[in-house]
Amino acid sequence: MTYNIALIKGDGIGPEIMDQTIRVLAVVGKKFGHVFEIKEVLAGGVAIDATGSNLPDVTMEICKSSDAVLLGAVGGPKWDHLQGGKRPEMALLTLRKELGLYANIRPSIMFEALKDACPLKSEIVEGGLDIVIVRELTGGIYFGKRETSQTYACDCMEYWEYEIARIAEKAFKIAMKRGKKITSVDKANVLDTSRLWRKTVDKISKRYPEVKVSHMYVDNAAMQLVINPKQFDVILTENMFGDILSDEASMITGSIGMLPSASLGDKNFGMYEPIHGSAPDIAGKDIANPIASILSLAMMLRFTFSMEEEATAIEKAVEDVLNKGYRTSDIAHGRDYLGTREITDKIIEML
Ligand SMILES: NC(=O)c1ccc[n+]([C@@H]2O[C@H](COP(=O)([O-])OP(=O)(O)OC[C@H]3O[C@@H](n4cnc5c(N)ncnc54)[C@H](O)[C@@H]3O)[C@@H](O)[C@H]2O)c1
Repeated sequence: MTYNIALIKGDGIGPEIMDQTIRVLAVVGKKFGHVFEIKEVLAGGVAIDATGSNLPDVTMEICKSSDAVLLGAVGGPKWDHLQGGKRPEMALLTLRKELGLYANIRPSIMFEALKDACPLKSEIVEGGLDIVIVRELTGGIYFGKRETSQTYACDCMEYWEYEIARIAEKAFKIAMKRGKKITSVDKANVLDTSRLWRKTVDKISKRYPEVKVSHMYVDNAAMQLVINPKQFDVILTENMFGDILSDEASMITGSIGMLPSASLGDKNFGMYEPIHGSAPDIAGKDIANPIASILSLAMMLRFTFSMEEEATAIEKAVEDVLNKGYRTSDIAHGRDYLGTREITDKIIEML
């Protein structure tokens, strides 16, 4: 059987980290006897430069006919003058919407070896952290009605009940396989969309009586993440709140360069990408941390291809490399560090 993967390297550090991720995939294929066929396509700034469009039709066609999409990151200062739908980042929003990827799964795991990199006091994170943020990805303010003039701008936050119900279902299914605890984050004291969110989550929760559900306002959730992050198991939230909270959660675990994500729809198809951006400040220097994208690859093997053993092997190899003291610049904190390719060499050796 051949597994078809669309590869979008993107901009900035995107190509550097994806080249290394593909090396890891090749080793997994060889070790476990799988054939992965990779089709590279363009999106983002490089696509604008090459074709004039941030998401050429052929990219969408190949993504749609693949089993999964692996993505680096898009955007950068070169394209910052572009407005609205012409921006590189808009390619991602279109991909998510067109591919029906409404659920963004972002695990925030603190590796024992990296606990010194956590900016919080050690007693707050004693025993480690393991949080999953389940973020709604194709609704809310990023996709609502817009209006702009020279002196006025408006972005609307909109949600339909079915959009909330399907992401809540995903969160409950994930919670059932973990600590059976969901914190649903909203701003129900102010927003109508949040009141609909709360009502819908409560409705879905009746089907999962084993899962303990609580509701929290987003401002409180931002605070609780730094004063008592261990209270969280699964955080379920809407698009923009999830965007912000997942970056906050990522910093608690050490570095934005460590955290993967999966964007899923109803079937096994998914798009897998690190949560960080294209990091133009370090692009081309061979110092970017490839671990977030390598762990995204592990998520792809697990969620799309049901290759649990292969996914775990990658995660274990990453953990072993960290335990042996190898670091990239973002998590070195004064120690010696390896480059993007060198740390991948170590991960491959462990595999
Ligand atoms: N999914 C995406 O493609 C995505 C997500 C966020 C931002 N962006 C775009 O990326 C560009 C830069 O955005 P930003 O600076 O706000 O966020 P960023 O995540 O690219 O960078 C923030 C900081 O983290 C560092 N960093 C990020 N990833 C790293 C890695 N793997 N290893 C080491 N250090 C890393 C960067 O050097 C920078 O100092 C912008 O054009 C933005 O729109 C794209």
